[in-house]
Amino acid sequence: MANHRCGSVSEEEPCCDISKKTKICLCVFFGLLVAVIIAVPVGILMWRHPLQEWKGKGTTAHFYEILLGRCYTYTQIVRPELGHKDCQKIGKAFTTAFLSKDPCSSTEQDYQPLLELTAQTVPCNKTLFWSKSSQLAHDYTRVQGDLFTLEDTLLGYMADGLKWCGDPRSSEMNYQSCPDWREDCSNNSFSVFWNAVSKRFAEDACGVVHVVLNGSISNTFDERSTFGRVEVFNLRPEKVHQLQAWVMHDVGGVHSDSCSSSSVNNLKRILKERSIAFSCQNNYGPIRLLQCVKNPEPSSCRFYV
Ligand SMILES: *[C@@H]1O[C@H](CO)[C@@H](O)[C@H](O)[C@H]1NC(C)=O
Ligand SMILES: *[C@@H]1O[C@H](CO)[C@@H](O)[C@H](O)[C@H]1NC(C)=O
Ligand SMILES: *[C@@H]1O[C@H](CO)[C@@H](O)[C@H](O)[C@H]1NC(C)=O
Repeated sequence: MANHRCGSVSEEEPCCDISKKTKICLCVFFGLLVAVIIAVPVGILMWRHPLQEWKGKGTTAHFYEILLGRCYTYTQIVRPELGHKDCQKIGKAFTTAFLSKDPCSSTEQDYQPLLELTAQTVPCNKTLFWSKSSQLAHDYTRVQGDLFTLEDTLLGYMADGLKWCGDPRSSEMNYQSCPDWREDCSNNSFSVFWNAVSKRFAEDACGVVHVVLNGSISNTFDERSTFGRVEVFNLRPEKVHQLQAWVMHDVGGVHSDSCSSSSVNNLKRILKERSIAFSCQNNYGPIRLLQCVKNPEPSSCRFYV
């Protein structure tokens, strides 16, 4: 009997050989088990969610948190006079508009519930459009706090500078890549959003409306820009009495275009056809002053400094 017991002197070697083999077997077994436990769900995930690859940048990291944070910042701090808005509901409506959907067949209807939740009245005479002059126009509304660019309204403020898209085979956002407007598709969730909110912003405008244009580029009025393609055509002639353009030249830069240039005349013609009066001013003083504050050296600022 003792001969068969493990640990007995005579049987020590074969006995421990067996236990070594057992250990190795167990090691291999558990190793495989762990590999299977890890590999199977990963495999299933990859098989279930092969997120499509696009040419454009993916969804901004922390997209949802940024949206919510900006919504609260805007409604509590930036424009508390807007009154109560349900930021949780707005955030949900935003993501519902594009999650689990093909990011190349986005529609304005997808964003309709979001637009309804973020309705906002901009007072007459206080709408400011911009084209190729984003920085300057926003510098101006920062100091002229009663004027609104689209990015000074709740929805524009929330989405400004962010990127987002979903995927029809997943309920997640695609953080890897999103469709590029030029290279992938024009009706992507991002562009369709900006077209829809720009359209609403222009439809809501009333009184005398303004636009900051860039006189240091050749196509000061560009018919392919959001302003030239969407906003100009969605102004309501029955409410908008006049569009006043401010053509701003870079301080010390080239003056390639001005109020009398052909591209600005094109804008004038379009507005005339739409029965909206047009006026234009080169280097509008208050905005020129801002440019000079940032860049006081050149002689064109000598009147201000
Ligand atoms: C808008 O501006 C026009 C022209 O300057 C003025 O006649 C009108 O009263 C203004 N409307 C409001 C609501 O301030
Ligand atoms: C005009 O466009 C150029 C090129 O994009 C830019 O560098 C410049 O700041 C713009 N100027 C104004 C007045 O917005
Ligand atoms: C994009 O959507 C618009 C409006 O829904 C539609 O008229 C147009 O044909 C679409 N374009 C493409 C390339 O699908």
